[in-house]
Parts: sequence; C-alpha cells; structure tokens
Amino acid sequence: EKGGYPHFMLKEIYEQPAALRRVMADRVSPGKIELEEINLSTEEIKDFNKIYILACGTAYYSGMIGKYVIEELTRTTVEIDVASEFRYRDPIVDDKTLVIVVSQSGETADTLAGLRLAQQKGARVLALTNVVGSTIPREADEVFYLHAGPEIAVASTKAFTNMVAAFYLLALYIAKIKDTVSREELAVYIDELLKLPKLAAETLESSEEMIKGRARDYHLQRDAFFIGRNTDYTLSLEGALKLKEISYIHAEAYPAGELKHGPLALIIEGVPVIAIATRMSLYEKTLSNIKEVKARGADVTAITFRGEKEVEKSVDHVLYIPKINELFSGVLAIIPLQLLAYYTAVEKGYDVDQPRNLAKSVTVE
Ligand code: F6R
Repeated sequence: EKGGYPHFMLKEIYEQPAALRRVMADRVSPGKIELEEINLSTEEIKDFNKIYILACGTAYYSGMIGKYVIEELTRTTVEIDVASEFRYRDPIVDDKTLVIVVSQSGETADTLAGLRLAQQKGARVLALTNVVGSTIPREADEVFYLHAGPEIAVASTKAFTNMVAAFYLLALYIAKIKDTVSREELAVYIDELLKLPKLAAETLESSEEMIKGRARDYHLQRDAFFIGRNTDYTLSLEGALKLKEISYIHAEAYPAGELKHGPLALIIEGVPVIAIATRMSLYEKTLSNIKEVKARGADVTAITFRGEKEVEKSVDHVLYIPKINELFSGVLAIIPLQLLAYYTAVEKGYDVDQPRNLAKSVTVE
C-alpha cells in the first residue's frame, strides 16, 4: 500500500504533482477559471468586506499564504486566526465576512467550533477540505474539495500543497470577479498555475540528493532556523513545523527582517539556517539578512530560483527550484523543506509516519 516507498510520508511527498493536477482539473484551463462548486453570486463576492481564514497547524500555514496572495491579487482585507484562538475571543465577524476554514481531515475540533461560531455570527463559511463527507464540509455553506487523495502520514504534505493551490485558485477567481486583475494578467497567472504539476515533479527530482546531504549534516543539531519574507516567511513556518514534528529538532521560523530584534542572539557557529528567497522584489533584503547570520557563523542553506546565482557568494549551500511567477513559488519551495524533515527523521531512525504524541485527526480540543 506504500507503493514501494519506505514510508507513507515519502509516498505522499512524491504524489504532489498528481495531487496538484487533480486540484486544478475542471477548475482552471488556459484563460479560464471557474469554481462551479462554490455557490456565491458575483454580488455576494463583491459585497464581502473581509475574508477571515481559520485553521490549525499546517492548514493554518496554508492560510497564511492564502492571506498574502488574496490580498495582493484582490485588494480584499484578509484576517487569519488559529481556530483555537478564534473560538474563544469574540471575533469581529458578520454577514459581510466570508470565513474560509481549512482542514485536511474535516474533523478538527477547534476548526469545527470556529466554523459554528462564524455561522452563528451570520458569516458565510467556505470549507477547503480533503476528506469527502467529513463533518466540516457537511456543516459549511460552501465546499471546495482538495482532491489530494488519502493522506496517511501524520505530517501533512500533499494536503498542504493542495491547500496552497486552492488559495491560488480562489484568489484568482475573486480577482476575476472583483476586476482587480485584467483579463490579460489573469491569463498569464493561469498559464503559470498550470505549470505547477510539472515543475513540482522537477523540484522533487532536483532536490532529493542535495537534501539527503543536508539531512546527514543537520541530523545531530539541536536547533534550526528558517527565515524568509512575505510568502517565503509562511513557508519557513511550515518548514520548521515539519522538522520539529518528525525529527524532534527544535526549529524556529522568523520573518527575515525580525532577526535583529532578538533571535540573532541565538545564531552561533554551525547553527543551521534555512533561508527561503523566492520573492524577487525582496531578494536583496533577504540577502542582507542572510549575510547577518553568515557573519555569526551559521551554516546557511538557501532556497531560490534557478539562475539567481548571487546568493552563492553568501551561503554554504543553495537549492535551486524551477522558475515560476513568484506569487506561486510556495508550492515548489515547500518540497525541499518536506524532504529535509523526512530525511532528517530517517537519519535519526524515528518513526516518520507516526511521530510521538501526535495524531492524524485531532477531534478533541
Ligand atoms: C502537521 C499537521 C497538523 C495538521 C493540523 C490540522 O503536519 O498535520 O498540524 O495540519 O492538526 O489538521 P486538519 O487539516 O485535519 O484540520
């Protein structure tokens, strides 16, 4: 059932190109994006004055990417909360709010409670869910299925990628309706989206050996840091979560610009820093943060686009991903981070698919 892979997690990492194809099938084609399953009229979409995203864990980090991308493409305010916070703080939500709940399992207790609270307050709730017929899509007003296929490993990989892709589709769909991108721009964005499955396969192939080497070097470390700006920061959070979940290395993520406000004190000789630099408008900024940690002796691995050679002068290792519109880099840049967590855990001999203290579906708060 593991299809020849030693663990479900590796199998699921490798299923990402196919999963991406499925999340886009019937929804997007050259020049065209239609989300027929979402029954929101043009007027309703234009009437929302705010979008509010709720989720836990990895699903929450997909929502952070969603926030950046939806705001950039649609100029709509997007708030985001961890569901366990949202449900206990009388959030500002009303019938002018579109609430998006994100859950692979569709059973997460806090996310479900957040959904119910949002509905009580009059909001329309759209669920992004993987498991068909689970509780969250049954209770939500609108459902967008992720079609990632069954995810068995506790650490989420292909569901995350499809959540992120779902947010790209939603952002473009809303932008089309609100006319915040031109038809020509929309067509270009769609062409880029359609490249993702193939480029994800390329990324898997080109990352594997390099990441195995990093995992061998890093597996005895106690701490690791992940930095980035904008969507690269949200990937840092997800990369750090993956590493701590299955390899039990203490991993922290920071917006690259925050280093000098505290965490730089922890950067000493040999500490692994993984720097994600795919937002090209911020490339120089991230590069100067990379130099800050390098000057303190960190062992820096950078992830950036093929062809961006300047970074090589300032870091120890570079992992190149294929070129794509930078708004959509998340789906590719997360792949080496998933592989890093995986191979580090394997190197340490841990039970990758069943990490200690964690369950696949969290049905209690
Ligand atoms: C991390 C992980 C968890 C889940 C979280 C939400 O790899 O799997 O952080 O993302 O428990 O689960 P769902 O998406 O089922 O609501």
